[in-house]
Amino acid sequence: MKILVTGGAGYVGSHAVLALRARGADVVVLDNLRQGHAAAVPAGVRLIEGDIGDAALLDPLLGEGFDAVLHFAALSLVGESMQKPMLYLRANAAAGMVLIEACLRHQVGRFVLSSTANLFAGGDAPLDEAAAIDPGSPYGESKWMLERALTWAGRTRGLKSVALRYFNAAGADPDGRLGEDHDPETHLIPLAIDAALGRRPELAIFGTDYPTPDGTCIRDYVHVSDLAEAHVRALERLAAAPEGAALAYNLGTGHGHSVRAVLAAVGRVAGRAVPAQEAPRRAGDPAILVASAARFMAETGWAPRFGDLDTIVATAHAWRVAHPGGYGG
Ligand SMILES: NC(=O)c1ccc[n+]([C@@H]2O[C@H](COP(=O)([O-])OP(=O)(O)OC[C@H]3O[C@@H](n4cnc5c(N)ncnc54)[C@H](O)[C@@H]3O)[C@@H](O)[C@H]2O)c1
Repeated sequence: MKILVTGGAGYVGSHAVLALRARGADVVVLDNLRQGHAAAVPAGVRLIEGDIGDAALLDPLLGEGFDAVLHFAALSLVGESMQKPMLYLRANAAAGMVLIEACLRHQVGRFVLSSTANLFAGGDAPLDEAAAIDPGSPYGESKWMLERALTWAGRTRGLKSVALRYFNAAGADPDGRLGEDHDPETHLIPLAIDAALGRRPELAIFGTDYPTPDGTCIRDYVHVSDLAEAHVRALERLAAAPEGAALAYNLGTGHGHSVRAVLAAVGRVAGRAVPAQEAPRRAGDPAILVASAARFMAETGWAPRFGDLDTIVATAHAWRVAHPGGYGG
């Protein structure tokens, strides 16, 4: 299998590259390296520095013949997308459609999209695929537009696709080869670890008056290596799917953890409490976002291997301790 991984120098994409290589796939990474790191691409994997919206680059590349595209490349800061909506719609939705069109021109049979839980407004019970779509930001909207585009590419041209709507990616490769290195970092677990390690000032807890047991937001943290494995399973699922199938699955552990529970876990793993300060709510944060991955599990046999919060935090902590400057350090 020859597979193009867009955004393969980023956090989730690089872990997926490892999982694909472990299955013997021939992998090529396309990444503009705006947020990604060349050092996150394993030796022996071809890295093409370029943009998913560049049709002149995509034509000769996809003309080499690819069985599948795993599409991770995106801008993914929810808050920034509220400030710059058109940037997100152009960079994610419009450029993503250039990529999908190129896949159609070059007979790429399977396409896996990194979609997001930001499609959903949240709710008390784990959200399954029947939950109402109500994108919380231009970022979420851009992913929904791509899901719709894939549905039409399937119906009219036979492209098979899966949209994986994942909740909060977290953790790091358990063998220590890869980790999370975003700039700016906005994810709770790496921020809390850095605060515990004294590399950042106090962490802000945004909102302590939500209708949850301890008043802080509850999220579903899914280990990045489990997400990587889910992409491999999604490709296998598509192999057996009929022509034009456009599938969508929610991916998480089914268990939510509050912000305070995450800080407690980081404190246990790091051996020091996370310095934190209470702050007002942020606009647009649902109280509870937890996934039901029951359908994906039933149809692919996937199950989280690193579902336990302390394990997720321990892998993230080990990588940050070993790489104080991230990939650049
Ligand atoms: N991290 C999460 O918790 C999470 C949750 C749900 C969905 N997602 C989605 O998963 C995907 C990967 O997320 P991540 O956390 O690994 O992000 P990331 O920023 O670490 O990785 C994205 C990669 O794509 C590259 N890129 C961005 N725009 C590009 C473009 N136009 N052309 C080429 N390369 C481009 C970046 O340089 C980066 O290497 C994204 O699509 C994101 O929306 C992430």
